Amino acid sequence: MSKRTNKKANADGRRDFMKVSALAAAAMNLSMTGSIHAAGKEEIKVGVVGCGGRGSGATRDSLEADPGVKIMAMADVFEDRLRSNLDACKTRFADRVDVPAERQFIGFDGYKKVIDLDLDYIIFATPPYFRSEHVEAAVNAGKNVFMEKPVAVDPVGCRRMMAAGDVATQKKLSVVCGTQRHHEDCYLECVQKVKDGAIGDIVSAECYWNQGQLWYKNRESNWSDMEWMIRNWVNWRWLSGDHIVEQHVHNIDVVNWFKGTHPVRATGSGGRAHRVTGDQYDFFAVDFEYADGTHSASYARQINGCANAVEERIVGTKGVAQTTSGRTEITGPNAWKYRRKGKPVVSPYVQEHIDLIKSIRDGAGLNEARRIAESTLTAIMGREAAYTGRAVTWDEMMKSDLKLGPETINWEVACPEIKIPVPGVA
Ligand SMILES: NC(=O)c1ccc[n+]([C@@H]2O[C@H](COP(=O)([O-])OP(=O)(O)OC[C@H]3O[C@@H](n4cnc5c(N)ncnc54)[C@H](O)[C@@H]3O)[C@@H](O)[C@H]2O)c1
Repeated sequence: MSKRTNKKANADGRRDFMKVSALAAAAMNLSMTGSIHAAGKEEIKVGVVGCGGRGSGATRDSLEADPGVKIMAMADVFEDRLRSNLDACKTRFADRVDVPAERQFIGFDGYKKVIDLDLDYIIFATPPYFRSEHVEAAVNAGKNVFMEKPVAVDPVGCRRMMAAGDVATQKKLSVVCGTQRHHEDCYLECVQKVKDGAIGDIVSAECYWNQGQLWYKNRESNWSDMEWMIRNWVNWRWLSGDHIVEQHVHNIDVVNWFKGTHPVRATGSGGRAHRVTGDQYDFFAVDFEYADGTHSASYARQINGCANAVEERIVGTKGVAQTTSGRTEITGPNAWKYRRKGKPVVSPYVQEHIDLIKSIRDGAGLNEARRIAESTLTAIMGREAAYTGRAVTWDEMMKSDLKLGPETINWEVACPEIKIPVPGVA
């Protein structure tokens, strides 16, 4: 049975995109006037790989983003997940969902069958372990991509994604990643103000993803180890990257965005005391150092009954920028607060697809792969610093052959031996 606690703090889009999407639907006529008449084809054929919570959300977001979108294919390793996405889409968008049995793919190779089809873009929303392999295959086949974050769980996967991003650039493909803050007006305006000097030079930063325990699934008697791990993936390091990578990558990515680069070194700590399943930590605290000598303090925690925060703070010589989804402001001599000023309310989850579709139609080649691969590697560097207790450098990560997960993927894969890293010993 699925258990979710501390729903209020569970802000990873799992919380509020339904609410905002409804507003976006109302605003869609206004927001779409720019893209629907853009050059190129009107119809946009979309396939989906990974039909769980976010895959279903992204499917609906793409349908809301543009009246030309048609969902043509779906893949998942579990029939029940595919069916529930398909049924939900048909209920709201019956005439724009054309996924007959021959374009429903169940199994680990389903992504290949989706990639083989004639589609304008493919949504990838499986657990992160699979992402770099799937996206690499998609760009090699000349497909545009919408992919969820994080984009890998280890340095090998990050470099694979960087290379796939380079191939996409060469082929002028569009690749958008589910880091919705980059498509959210309040963040875009605030970052621009900071780049224009509103807080002076950045001297330090802080970022947080502190919330209660995320969901977990108790094992059912007929589930193999592999089925249980995949259905319970947010608790397994090899599938999720641990929560500093799976969730906190959003905030780490925002700090890198303000800084315009990734850090060069991390030292950290973390531990596990409360979790009831899987092999992840409960909390991380990491000091990231950038090449210019400035530092960013990063905190990620999933423990019930504690103070929560999902936000970033950028400290400059002349002021401070405070940012969280839906609200950004600057304090100091150039004080400023984001105001919508009559602009239509569009969910950033829908805006991601509006921006992707516009890029596909215009052939603009919007490509976020390298940026999110670097932010994912930043989070992994922080995780490794916490697990080991060592100072871990970017150069080490860029050379590391650390690869999580089994050699081959099939339903016979057994749960790994639970070894919780002990700093100073690991
Ligand atoms: N941008 C955001 O705010 C946001 C919010 C939530 C989740 N996410 C990300 O979205 C991704 C999916 O998360 P979720 O919450 O939807 O999880 P989920 O468990 O609800 O969905 C994952 C789906 O992928 C399927 N799957 C697993 N392995 C597969 C494979 N090899 N091939 C095809 N399908 C496979 C699962 O059966 C499941 O249906 C994760 O990377 C997560 O970090 C992003």
